[in-house]
Amino acid sequence: MSVKIAPSILAADFANLQKEVEMLNTSSADYIHVDIMDGMFVPNISFGLPVTEAIHRHAAKLLDVHLMILDPDRYLPAFRKAGAEVLTVHIEACNHLHRTVQYIKDLGAKAGVALNPHTPVAALENILDDLDLVCLMSVNPGFGGQKFIQGTYDKIRKLRQMVNERGLSTMIEIDGGVNQTNAPLLMEAGADVLVAGSFVFTSPDPIHTIKNLKGL
Ligand code: DX5
Ligand code: ZN
Repeated sequence: MSVKIAPSILAADFANLQKEVEMLNTSSADYIHVDIMDGMFVPNISFGLPVTEAIHRHAAKLLDVHLMILDPDRYLPAFRKAGAEVLTVHIEACNHLHRTVQYIKDLGAKAGVALNPHTPVAALENILDDLDLVCLMSVNPGFGGQKFIQGTYDKIRKLRQMVNERGLSTMIEIDGGVNQTNAPLLMEAGADVLVAGSFVFTSPDPIHTIKNLKGL
């Protein structure tokens, strides 16, 4: 099965959001990655609920919502209602991660946990069995268009081994600095989903770029 692609709407033209979402609808993208930043957990603010709801209204693809916010429990029902299929929280932003993960599942969404570049995959030891997705950050979260951190490959291989040893179907997602050069290597290391923002949206033909990233 080919790798799944989740274009990050953060790199889209916000003044033409409907057009951008409709473009993604016609592409081979699997998800639309929606980056929510609170200016506290990360040093940037992106957008929130009304914009997510507006994206969902036009989207034919599932929304993969990446919450880069402190204490995300406060907003889980609202983002689920706004159309999130996957709700990903940061391990570094949750004091009671097990409770948060159960809460996401109770809301009927898929539960994801994201790890910053400095957080080892071993931190997932006692939660991995409950997760539908793990998002390994390959940049420090907060901004699109940053350089891919090479140490990510080792983390993917370690996590792939943990997932396989336990017989889980947890998806491994890579987020940050993904491009046509590293995509095949990330797949080979064991990634299931690649998030790509600036590489897709700054390319002359995003639909073609998404197809290429998928290796089609
Ligand atoms: C980073 C975000 C990413 C970002 C990826 O904080 O979580 O999803 O939009 O953008 P690129 O692909 O440009 O690194
Ligand atoms: Zn993201």
